[in-house]
Amino acid sequence: MTFETLIVEIRGAVALVTLNRPQALNALNSVVMRELSEAFKTFDTDPAVRAVVLTGSEKAFAAGADIKEMQHVEFAEAYSSDFLAGWAELPNFRKPLIAAVSGFALGGGCELAMMCDFIIASKTARFGQPEITLGIIPGMGGTQRLVRAIGKAKAMDLCLTGRMMDAEEAERSGLVARVVEPGKLIDEALAAAERIAGLSGPSVLMAKEAVNRAFELTLAEGLRFERRLFQALFATEDQKEGMAAFVEKRPPAFKNR
Ligand code: CAA
Repeated sequence: MTFETLIVEIRGAVALVTLNRPQALNALNSVVMRELSEAFKTFDTDPAVRAVVLTGSEKAFAAGADIKEMQHVEFAEAYSSDFLAGWAELPNFRKPLIAAVSGFALGGGCELAMMCDFIIASKTARFGQPEITLGIIPGMGGTQRLVRAIGKAKAMDLCLTGRMMDAEEAERSGLVARVVEPGKLIDEALAAAERIAGLSGPSVLMAKEAVNRAFELTLAEGLRFERRLFQALFATEDQKEGMAAFVEKRPPAFKNR
């Protein structure tokens, strides 16, 4: 797969996608959106890809939506083209997706990281929703996903002041799953993705689906949904294999069925 704004490397069962617009700190323009969407559609249907890591450069995961591209957009055009709606597709990606964040993850960059299943951050990472300083507000989910990730107080603080938070504060707040030394970011994210890729495919997909449903459903509906998926997994060979392997004190050999 060759792209103008992405580098895609297949490492075993893991696809490593690197945003590649260094001249604009990986600002997210319409080409990035189209290419990411194309890449993720391919991964979704390719059984050889079992997990994905999305990263940027050392200096910037992504410094936001491309301000130069949207500077002259008018309301009528934004509304009739449903500007930014294309980004809503990414969270529909069914396979595990880890964001490996170094440097700036601002505006759309922070929102893109939040669309991933979890974030592993380098100590250098800085998160923020600075849209307010441009006379706009977040438009790719910042006001919604940030509240769910870190609660109203900090979400309001970030969205209203536009300030950045460092990796340590982001981890403390629950935005980030792990913080690692700068040189270890990609290795740590790939290791996590490889570990997931080695587990039983159906249970991995269902775990992701169930966790994501927690954002949409009442607790009673969510618990029922979880229980139904849990019960369904007893129809898989991998459940038999996983439990037999535990009892026989050996590693499981999952077949993804
Ligand atoms: N869009 C377009 N270009 C961007 C950009 C962005 N979001 N962020 C950085 N760039 C460009 C700069 O214009 C600059 O290009 P030139 O060399 O051609 O001038 C280049 O990247 C390097 O940037 P800086 O010189 O500014 O680098 P710095 O190290 O001094 O500062 C920074 C880094 C603090 C991240 C600063 O670039 C910055 O504040 N960027 C904008 C952050 C922002 O406001 N993001 C929100 C965008 S709106 C949005 O995302 C809406 C949404 O919800 C979808």
